[in-house]
Amino acid sequence: GAAGDGGGFARVGDIVHEGLHNLEYRGYDSAGVALVGEASGLTVAKRSGEVDNLTVPDVADAALGIGHTRWSTHGPPTDENAHPHTDCVGDIAVVHNGIVENHEALKAELSDHEFTSDTDTEVIPHLIEEELAAASDAGDLLDAVRAVESRLEGSYAICAVREDDDRIVVARRGSPLVLGHDEDATFVASDVTAFLEHTRDATYLEDGDVASLSAEGVEVYADGELVDRETETVTWEADAAEKGGYEHYMRKEIHEQPESLRQTIAGRLDVDAGDADLDTSFPPGFLADLEEIQIVACGTSNYAGRYAAQLFEDLSGVRATVETASEYEFGAGRSADRTLVVAVTQSGETADTLGAIRRANAAGARTFAVTNTLGSTVTREVDDTAFIRAGPEIGVAATKTFASQVATLAMLAVAIGRERGALAAADARPVLEGLRDLPGAVQQVLDNEDAVREAATEYGDSEAFFFVGRQLGVPVALEGALKLKEISYDHAEGFAAGELKHGPLALVTPETPVLAVLTEGGRADETMNNVTEAQTRGAPAIGCVSAGDKYATLDVSLPVPDVGVVEPLVANVYLQLFAYHVANDKGRSIDKPRNLAKSVTVE
Ligand code: G6P
Repeated sequence: GAAGDGGGFARVGDIVHEGLHNLEYRGYDSAGVALVGEASGLTVAKRSGEVDNLTVPDVADAALGIGHTRWSTHGPPTDENAHPHTDCVGDIAVVHNGIVENHEALKAELSDHEFTSDTDTEVIPHLIEEELAAASDAGDLLDAVRAVESRLEGSYAICAVREDDDRIVVARRGSPLVLGHDEDATFVASDVTAFLEHTRDATYLEDGDVASLSAEGVEVYADGELVDRETETVTWEADAAEKGGYEHYMRKEIHEQPESLRQTIAGRLDVDAGDADLDTSFPPGFLADLEEIQIVACGTSNYAGRYAAQLFEDLSGVRATVETASEYEFGAGRSADRTLVVAVTQSGETADTLGAIRRANAAGARTFAVTNTLGSTVTREVDDTAFIRAGPEIGVAATKTFASQVATLAMLAVAIGRERGALAAADARPVLEGLRDLPGAVQQVLDNEDAVREAATEYGDSEAFFFVGRQLGVPVALEGALKLKEISYDHAEGFAAGELKHGPLALVTPETPVLAVLTEGGRADETMNNVTEAQTRGAPAIGCVSAGDKYATLDVSLPVPDVGVVEPLVANVYLQLFAYHVANDKGRSIDKPRNLAKSVTVE
């Protein structure tokens, strides 16, 4: 958003539009603006598609404006679901990032309000409208946003404007918001890239802050008190700023995992009740009769599927298989109406995966997609979809979406297990607690990046790299090897640790480090025996080890916090960082590795 003085600053609409262009890498399925002028009042324009699709109305007297470019989490990318959202009367407009977890409960309280979208966001302008209506006079936008903010659960950033008000009121909890200060205007955005061409003087808001912006400047409140937030000068170039100051999207996306995982689980876990809710609707009796879950996926998504298959068997009590999507056939000896075929695909556009889903549909099976992309092709071809809500991933090598896929599938496994009566609440609870604690556990690993960077520097020039694990550690070993080969071009392979001695051990030398997943859910002691066999042949060993368990003979031991069956997922973050630093030391093209594409739309 930008607030200037109407007269000398008539290009507010252009400035907001430009800002949205600068932010397109954060989301790009729909865009919109709201402009406020003294005579013109409030003007809103929004539509689905890229920022370029949006025609910003020419409002000559606009003194302030807000805008949004969307990455859908609730509701498909349609014109109605695009931001800004407005109240009933149409004099309040709001843009919002993040998720309002209690939006359904809030909506129920607003039964006399008419809603025009499927978004969680829309409750916010309506709640503001209620607050203002309850005030004795015309009410105050800042007070209203403050009151509404205190009722929202989840993580979000909000900007609100009102007709006949010369302020933008913003609030932050969990999602980023940064202010920019120029001589004749004030800016606010989720990222400084939005306004870097105007000013480099920036103030980062803190969680719980509510601020008002006008041509006169900014006031920031915390707990109702006016506070001073430091202004800093941004020294990054726009390109680095887009990457949050990181050199590569991949490292940025690795570091985003606590936040993206929080979005993935937001409002979906009920630890007390021992249940998870992905808003799925299976036909009556379908889950009770379910005989098999077949997972179809490619690349990293396939490994997320392999992780999940074990969870489906353990938690849902259903036989689960994983197929490479390009190899999939429905298969003999199965009954289609008792089979659920789950496509796991970040993009929702992978041709091999779509091909598999089409074969499953043709066989008459029920189909389901787990994807990051609302409105993608796969969502139109399956019976049900669950979104992983990881946000846009730009690095070709998938990182944060793997974590969010596994977390989503774990919740699905719990939900199915509970609904089938195969899983007791008491047995679901530790899994749900692990998911709840996952963002924090991943943060601890990220805080320990130096240790894995050192290991990458020490062993990065080896001849080849072997990754091993057992059980839930196997898909993580495969994914660790895939990450490394994709971005460093080194030879890397993942194995079930027990298989090492049945062949690959012939390749092991002091020049082939072994990286091992030694956590909960991965038969750590048995895996360590296999690691020792490799060490006996001279291989250095790097282990991701559950906290408390120390294997003193490891060359490098990387601690993994105690989060139960999702510990291997946390260990995976070390392997992502290892791959990143090995590749970075070699100066590789990390975000766009040779020969690879983010989304492969040919079979
Ligand atoms: C490509 C990408 C991989 C990705 C795979 C599946 O090969 O390079 O990173 O894992 O496609 O993509 P999807 O969008 O279906 O998850």
